Amino acid sequence: EMTLENKLGITDSVELARAEERLSKKRAAELFESGTLDSLEAGTVESLVQIHRCLFGDVYDFAGIVRTVNISKGNFRFAPVMYLEASLAHVESMPQCTFDEIIEKYVEMNIAHPFREGNGRSTRIWLDLILKKELGKVVNWSFVDKDDYLLAMERSPIKDVEIKHLLQQALTEEVSDREVYMKGIDASYHYEGYAVYKTDEL
Ligand SMILES: Nc1ncnc2c1ncn2[C@@H]1O[C@H](COP(=O)(O)OP(=O)(O)OP(=O)(O)O)[C@@H](O)[C@H]1O
Ligand SMILES: [Mg+2]
Repeated sequence: EMTLENKLGITDSVELARAEERLSKKRAAELFESGTLDSLEAGTVESLVQIHRCLFGDVYDFAGIVRTVNISKGNFRFAPVMYLEASLAHVESMPQCTFDEIIEKYVEMNIAHPFREGNGRSTRIWLDLILKKELGKVVNWSFVDKDDYLLAMERSPIKDVEIKHLLQQALTEEVSDREVYMKGIDASYHYEGYAVYKTDEL
């Protein structure tokens, strides 16, 4: 089986998933504890780039770099590379004053899917940063069923009512709780076999 080219020289996909998870979690914790996360400007493309670079810099050369291949998952094709820069500029310009606006922005960022891998984790942290800055709340991801989340995200480009409902009922004011934060990037979100992108380079 093919694995993504990585800095660790790992060619086994299970081994890569384990190493990637361990290293990205360590970096995510540092990002939180150092206060770097709070210094980022919520809702910008640059803040997502910084988050991705931090989390995956140990593992991938493309950490913090916008993808150059088209990718799809299930039946959904994420933003074509040709329009990716324009899509990202559009997402950044979207308002983020209300909960609904923030989720709509999150859904659009997921459709853009700027990176070759690691979009889910970095974009959930990006979402929490917006919720925290704008509403003084974050998602307590332990109140979000993983299957429900993935179904709602698959559905979100068509209809965002499910993801809005799912995340609304999980909001908490515990914005400084490390456990709550780390839960959003928990490995239980990864589904073996599910997490494989199709690209048109293959
Ligand atoms: N069919 C789909 N349509 C739209 N969005 C999807 C689809 N499948 C997955 N997603 C979104 O993509 C994310 C996964 O992206 P990616 O694999 O790049 O990131 P990750 O950090 O490795 O994964 P994870 O979110 O599982 O931790 C999911 O969390 C979900 O939000
Ligand atoms: Mg993945």
